[in-house]
Amino acid sequence: MSINVKQLAAEKAVEYVVDGMKVGLGTGSTAYWAIRKLGERVQEGLKITAVATSVASEEQARELGIPLVGFGDIDGLDLTIDGADELNHDLELIKGGGGALLREKIVARGSKQMIVVADESKAVDTLGQFPLPVEIVPFAWEWTVAELAKLGCTVELRSSGDGLYKTDNGNYIADCRFGAIASASELAGSLQNITGVVEHGLFIGIAAMAIIGKQDGSIEII
Ligand code: 5RP
Repeated sequence: MSINVKQLAAEKAVEYVVDGMKVGLGTGSTAYWAIRKLGERVQEGLKITAVATSVASEEQARELGIPLVGFGDIDGLDLTIDGADELNHDLELIKGGGGALLREKIVARGSKQMIVVADESKAVDTLGQFPLPVEIVPFAWEWTVAELAKLGCTVELRSSGDGLYKTDNGNYIADCRFGAIASASELAGSLQNITGVVEHGLFIGIAAMAIIGKQDGSIEII
């Protein structure tokens, strides 16, 4: 019987949450399990407050009775638990497969600690097999896409069933295929220099720990 490795990793991360913490709730199918477990622990009496990184995670938290607070009510978070699309051994991440990278980065940067939860398929030696999501403003998106392509990638504007995909912030996502990324920090610098780019999915120097769930039932900590 195959085990749910996303759930395995996510529930391990929730063990790091203790009474009084302000917690950032990630987005995606792995973060889903962390939020679910947190909801269970809140029902059992755990006292936390939380902020969410997407409308979907906020709705899930609300349904589970996790107390949510506004960003104006707190000046930071203790811990954020979130997934990743790829991570390497230096804890550099590609995020944004679920389109929430901007909110995820704001929340993770506002946290004392970010724990990444993932299944073993996400752990790679070199980032870049997963197309890098870049959030761009809709205005003149064609020019922004052209600038991105000059960095040496092929760009696909993300679509949804009924047209172009829009993030919770009303922006577009350009999925950029770079192939192997030799230096994530150099690429991050180049992306930040493009006007029209709101944020990119490279998370460098942000994650403190990764909890990787494996099909044999074990957990690897990076
Ligand atoms: C959403 C994200 C997710 O954390 C990432 O896509 C991983 O998702 P999943 O756990 O469903 O594989 O960055 O923007």
